[in-house]
Amino acid sequence: MKSTVLEGKGLCKTFANGQVATNVIRNLDVEIYNGDFTVIMGTSGAGKSTLLYMLSGIDTITAGEINLMDSRIDKLKEKKMAKIRRNDIGFVFQEANLLEDFTVFENIAMPGYLVSKNRKEVNDRTDILLEEVNMLDHKNKYPSQLSGGQKQRVAIIRSLINKPNVLFADEPTGALNATQSKAVLDLLTGVHEKGQSILMVTHDIAAASRANRLLYIKDGKIDGILEFDQFEVEDIKDREKQVFDFIMKRGW
Ligand SMILES: Nc1ncnc2c1ncn2[C@@H]1O[C@H](COP(=O)(O)OP(=O)(O)OP(=O)(O)O)[C@@H](O)[C@H]1O
Ligand SMILES: [Mg+2]
Repeated sequence: MKSTVLEGKGLCKTFANGQVATNVIRNLDVEIYNGDFTVIMGTSGAGKSTLLYMLSGIDTITAGEINLMDSRIDKLKEKKMAKIRRNDIGFVFQEANLLEDFTVFENIAMPGYLVSKNRKEVNDRTDILLEEVNMLDHKNKYPSQLSGGQKQRVAIIRSLINKPNVLFADEPTGALNATQSKAVLDLLTGVHEKGQSILMVTHDIAAASRANRLLYIKDGKIDGILEFDQFEVEDIKDREKQVFDFIMKRGW
């Protein structure tokens, strides 16, 4: 049986705009399992990013409870939360957000130095991660010298430097062309196959088909769940059709 790595109970999020309050997430329960590649889908404005930011501790919750590896994280003071963000979670956004004044190598290693005193270990791991994405030759380049897809692969391995319990990704292929997207998805699939838990928001059916579990968000709640076996390249067309049918049925 799978263990739970992340859990949200009775989650609510309300945004107040002057006199108007919008309930974006409404009493939502969710469990994310260890080693799963979980995807969140839903129409634009459904609250996918909001949910991802709540579960990762980037944003506060209005009500409910969040447990990461059996520790409650939603009531922590900022300093403790910052430590969890640094040590236990990885986050990747649509834009790579690399530091332009630092090399590829430095961008990846720096969050590692913040957590580990063993610089050599961090440096070695940085090289290993770069090697895994065939980018060791680019280690001394600056972000401006990379393509969009290369930048995003660097952002992903940077988020893995401290071996996070969960890798969160909000539309990581949203700004990429088809070829670049495929390289990023192949990287995420490879990372998942090594046991990394991933929670990713996407609009893209090809991206969603890499997951083994899909959650559809509607009206602030989970409206449906679709589950797959381990990803096999030859099954991709069939999976994409199943994802398409799944989201169409829910008003995509
Ligand atoms: N900081 C904020 N203040 C007020 N309203 C917000 C804020 N952030 C999000 N919202 C509102 O919450 C709703 C959900 O937004 P969210 O960004 O989570 O949607 P999403 O599902 O990620 O959409 P998309 O697919 O377009 O990225 C939207 O109606 C949005 O306008
Ligand atoms: Mg969003």
